[in-house]
Amino acid sequence: MRALLLTLCLTACAADLPADAEFVVQDSDFTGLEAWQSWPITATALGAFHTTGPRIVYLNHKPPPGARTFPVGTILVKTLQNASGDTFAMVKRGGNFNAEWAIGWEWLEITKKTGAWQIVWRGNTPPDGAGYTDDGVSCNLCHAMARSNDWVQSKVLQLPMP
Ligand code: HEC
Repeated sequence: MRALLLTLCLTACAADLPADAEFVVQDSDFTGLEAWQSWPITATALGAFHTTGPRIVYLNHKPPPGARTFPVGTILVKTLQNASGDTFAMVKRGGNFNAEWAIGWEWLEITKKTGAWQIVWRGNTPPDGAGYTDDGVSCNLCHAMARSNDWVQSKVLQLPMP
């Protein structure tokens, strides 16, 4: 019963998870992300593929006022506004996930090329041959620069959020 409730909760009420639960994001959790709170970014940060050109960052739920970390169930998405439409996500999965690097965060690439958002890959690092043009720098390594902000880089997402 608890497992069933947890499964239902994972799809329906990510924000209300018990503190020790892991949030394993599914394709459907990305549905409608275009209507989430979002911020356009045009400044070039670092000059890498993932950080140049117009892009938009989306957040499913703001952390509670005063929070110094993003809660389990937080979904952050960044789409590149270029022909590639490449879209990356970081999801606060919690538990011991990615414990050696961006603690609790799962990295993903998602796509809407088939109509609905779908997960292309997921994990504590991109798989070999993921096609991510990252100049050899991993998600963990670059986002480590934002370690003091729970590994989240964007200036508009500095904790505590208002
Ligand atoms: C070259 C450094 C670099 C690498 C490598 C990198 N990122 Fe980022 N990422 C950034 C910066 C800087 C931002 C802040 C927004 C911006 O300027 O584009 C960001 C923002 C994000 C965001 C929006 C939330 C936030 O942290 O602000 C997501 C989601 C994201 N990156 C996912 C990924 C994923 C997934 C990977 C690996 C496939 C990755 N990033 C690799 C530098 C990097």
